[in-house]
Amino acid sequence: MTVRIRKAVFPVGGLGTRFLPATKAMPKEMLPVVDKPLIQYAVEEARAAGIEHFIFVTGHGKTAIEDHFDSNTALEKLLEKDGKTDLLAFLRDSTLESGKISYTRQSEPKGLGHAVWCARDLIGDEPFAVLLPDDIFHCKTPCLKQLVDAYPAVGGNIVAVQDVPLEHTSRYGVLKVESDDGHLIKANGMVEKPAPETAPSRCAVSGRYVLSPEVLRELDHQKTGVKGEIQLTDAIAATIGRVPLHGFRYEGRRFDCGNKIGFLMANIEYALDRPDLADDFKAALKTLPL
Ligand code: G1P
Repeated sequence: MTVRIRKAVFPVGGLGTRFLPATKAMPKEMLPVVDKPLIQYAVEEARAAGIEHFIFVTGHGKTAIEDHFDSNTALEKLLEKDGKTDLLAFLRDSTLESGKISYTRQSEPKGLGHAVWCARDLIGDEPFAVLLPDDIFHCKTPCLKQLVDAYPAVGGNIVAVQDVPLEHTSRYGVLKVESDDGHLIKANGMVEKPAPETAPSRCAVSGRYVLSPEVLRELDHQKTGVKGEIQLTDAIAATIGRVPLHGFRYEGRRFDCGNKIGFLMANIEYALDRPDLADDFKAALKTLPL
């Protein structure tokens, strides 16, 4: 039986202090890469993977995200009147269908696991995706689609992974590897942000997950981990034995837009990939005193 992954959770409650002052009055998820907000990259990726219902776990000061995915009739009318059909199409494309989008709040910053748990009633008892909007992926096949395609063969929990330098393990959830065929990794453990000396591997979890509802049942226990937070990693690890855990080495490049270098690199790579910008941008880059 093929189980469809219909729902995706987007945790967008984080404060974005690393981008102050830009994020003083604006959600960090609305920072643009070229001309599209980070969160829209994640939503488009989810859509391309067949996701039908978009669940946002928000917090204070995040209403710009709700407005962004709603229609803007006044602007549409203006663009229509001016015959700006391209812009009109972009605008309509960023509107999500009413009833297919839900917002719930994480009232206290208790960690990523807690944020996902806040969506439990909206998810129900079915497998679901999680996309962390700080991470954007430049891939031929969208990263979540790669996971969703790999999922039926393994079921359980499947997470996107990349190999990182040992000195970076303390930034990620890291898999304990049982077997590895180069693409698919069977894991028998997962540790949140281990120091290089204790890291079970260099196989680090990127911000895309397809998860079993067993993880939500585990999160019901509200156990805290690293930094005193309720970690998604710990809940996933605790379900091993009940459901399998696999890592999937996706094809493509990930940009961690939660830090400034990753964010700047993403802007450069995505601009160079845009037919309407690439040539002029390349020429402009050459004028920089690098
Ligand atoms: C979160 C997760 C971590 C994962 C990372 C990917 O950490 O807790 O397991 O590897 O995202 O970006 P954060 O970056 O929010 O500290």
